Amino acid sequence: MTGKRVLTGVTTTGIPHLGNYVGAIRPAIAAAANPEMESFFFLADYHGLIKCHDPNRIHESTQAVAATWLACGLDPERTTFYRQSDIPEIQELNWILTCITAKGLMNRAHAYKAAVQENIDNGLADEDHAVEMGLYSYPILMAADILMFNAHYVPVGRDQIQHLEMARDIAGRFNHRFKNLFTLPEAQIDDKVETLVGLDGRKMSKSYGNTIALFDDEKKLQKSVNKIITNLKEPGEPKLPDESPLFEIYKAFANENEAVEFTQKLAEGLAWGDAKKMLAAKINAELADKRDRYWALMSHPAEIEAILQAGAQKARARARVLLDEVRDAVGIRRLRG
Ligand code: ADP
Ligand code: TRP
Repeated sequence: MTGKRVLTGVTTTGIPHLGNYVGAIRPAIAAAANPEMESFFFLADYHGLIKCHDPNRIHESTQAVAATWLACGLDPERTTFYRQSDIPEIQELNWILTCITAKGLMNRAHAYKAAVQENIDNGLADEDHAVEMGLYSYPILMAADILMFNAHYVPVGRDQIQHLEMARDIAGRFNHRFKNLFTLPEAQIDDKVETLVGLDGRKMSKSYGNTIALFDDEKKLQKSVNKIITNLKEPGEPKLPDESPLFEIYKAFANENEAVEFTQKLAEGLAWGDAKKMLAAKINAELADKRDRYWALMSHPAEIEAILQAGAQKARARARVLLDEVRDAVGIRRLRG
């Protein structure tokens, strides 16, 4: 055991999609297979509340995200697998970290800045219109998720790199001000995976309704793939990989040679329709078995819940030890005689 830890979470705001899989779930499960690595994977349901105000959606998504992790090969005996809201220690740490985080750091967060920019673009006098504190402070909660288990590596998509930098900043500040208790975490990015683009041209995200769901049946998968934006080039006309988000998705599911071959075929005039068939087949080859496991699990929610409860027990026992040290370091202590 090198004593290294890998940790990541997926927000419970909808049905997992190809981006979640290639950006976080697949690399996380690969990292957990390393016997030298301890792993912590969780359902980020308190993060879900930031973007989603529909209780049923949060609840259903929790089941779907949990079933996805399990279907993709997570072994709950080896990995500590839990739901964020089952670990109250994370919220305690969240507050302590909130008290040492510079407001200026949060002002620079991409998600907050995007919301402000949208208000400015819409000509609103109040830049902070409709910005809630959950959105504003969300990088601190994410830091608490990571620091609570002193993770070394955090497999995430590229969109999360800034949050990892913030977590390091917050950890460093605590270590400097109080006591050296926190490991500085590193983002782990899969080189061959870009942030996948969704069916409307924006980042593929559960929050935008523009996704290709991970476990739709073959027919629905092909239907979604057919909606990927392309240009009007005819069959036979040479095409470049960056003319459609289709190529980045293909690359995320193919090996290097296959990606080169695909580029070649596009250059030789492969029809977009045929490219879409090739893409759906490629995705299907990797996901077919996992899809069967997913749907089997989805019909047994009580089994999933039992796994999550066992995971929460393991996670809480670990979290408590560090939280006690953190509380002591900041002066939250019992009075003694
Ligand atoms: P979403 O935007 O779909 O709600 P989450 O916030 O739950 O996604 O992200 C879970 C993980 O999936 C994160 O590590 C994130 O970086 C990754 N991820 C999300 N969308 C994409 C994407 N389009 N391409 C690559 N990775 C992604
Ligand atoms: N914020 C992440 C996202 O939107 C999800 C997440 C929450 C997470 N807490 C985390 C990822 C801790 C890694 C580590 O994608």
